[in-house]
Amino acid sequence: MMNTTLYSSDLFLIEGGVKLRGKVRVSGAKNASLPIMFATLLTKEGSVIENVPHLLDVDSASELLKKLGARVERLEDRLLIDPEGVNSWETPDEIVKRMRASVLSMGPLLGRFGRARVALPGGCSIGARPIDQHLKFFVSAGADVQVKEGYVNVEIGKKRGVEFRFDLITVTGTENALLYLSTVEEKSVLENIAVEPEVMDLVEVLRKMGARIEVEGRRAVIWGSSELRGFVHRVIPDRIEAGTLMVAAVLTDGDVTLEGVELGHMEEVVEKLMEAGAKIEPIGREKVRVRRGGRPNPIEIVTREYPGFPTDMQAQMMALLSVTEGKSMIYESIFENRFQHAYELMKMGANIDVRGRSAFVYGVEKLRGAEVNSTDLRASASLVLAGLVAEGKTVIRDIYHLDRGYERLEEKLNSLGASIERLPQILS
Ligand code: EPZ
Repeated sequence: MMNTTLYSSDLFLIEGGVKLRGKVRVSGAKNASLPIMFATLLTKEGSVIENVPHLLDVDSASELLKKLGARVERLEDRLLIDPEGVNSWETPDEIVKRMRASVLSMGPLLGRFGRARVALPGGCSIGARPIDQHLKFFVSAGADVQVKEGYVNVEIGKKRGVEFRFDLITVTGTENALLYLSTVEEKSVLENIAVEPEVMDLVEVLRKMGARIEVEGRRAVIWGSSELRGFVHRVIPDRIEAGTLMVAAVLTDGDVTLEGVELGHMEEVVEKLMEAGAKIEPIGREKVRVRRGGRPNPIEIVTREYPGFPTDMQAQMMALLSVTEGKSMIYESIFENRFQHAYELMKMGANIDVRGRSAFVYGVEKLRGAEVNSTDLRASASLVLAGLVAEGKTVIRDIYHLDRGYERLEEKLNSLGASIERLPQILS
């Protein structure tokens, strides 16, 4: 049998035990960049998006925009998008499969062409993640929605304003609705919306394009326009990357200064880290110094929609709590299956008891290096954090999960003194 080797992804080889020290700049937010990239479809005019991170998900979104007929150029951290040539309203399955946020093309394509054909995103490892709320909104807005052969076909005749209340808080559901309603010249009202900083960054962009949007609590009133304009916008910092780097500093008993951070977007994360024993000292508007204040303390975390504790920081905190003296509890209220990382952390010696949506973490003295697998984006971040502090070597496979949402994470951590080697993963 010929010994074929397939490069399915990269792997990380981490030598644990280094205290991180130094300064690192936080990149732009992935989950703001993606909806804002799709907002460019709402007009024929060109747009410039600044502070866009180099991520696989951003590459996938760029590829989709080009498939739809737009021109996309990247210059350093800027994306120049010319959507004039967009002549398709179909988002193919092979892109949606790779990046479920492609469903955000539905609202803009329906707004621009009166129709959209988008492949249904399957479930993923953290949960079923249906899009029923997105479709329920489009139906209430007067669209004809048909699900056939794995695709959603949406069509609308005469656009009209709508009053719609989401049954549950959904980030991309809210964004899809805002993107579409920005093209509807009548007044619309959305109730029970998501208000994550990334959603509000999209609102800023839609206002720059000419939509009038007023947000009060979880209620938005929108007056759209049929003549939306191009925009220039600098994406907000990535609060989840910033939180991940903060955990790395505390976990390794380091002393790290983050630059280009927006602490106003991460109050709950800062509060929980301080409760766990971190020393977090703001320096001016966009800098913060992070150290550990003695051995971390056990804490309780319940993930919630913003402004609650973000589910996207849950896996990273579990790595920290794994080496914290005493029993901690994590309750994951957003996704039904977001504890995959617990089983990988256990291979490194963590003592975690997973019961449904609760995980009880019994802190251990030390983690030990092991061979572990990435299962999803934030789980892989959690394993990198554990590898930084584990005794000996840790191998983390399928690093493409990490590359979807973190810009050169190993370079940032190595600049702080970590020892992470990226190697091709050879499957034989
Ligand atoms: C966004 O996903 C983020 N992705 C996720 O970040 C994040 O974890 C999530 O919001 C929660 O904050 C992007 O912004 C691109 P939801 P989204 O719709 O919009 C259920 C990361 O790590 N639901 O707010 O898909 C759903 O199953 C990623 O960067 C329905 O039941 O999340 C989930 O349990 C992972 N029906 C909950 O609501 C719907 O129609 C929240 O989902 C929509 C959602």
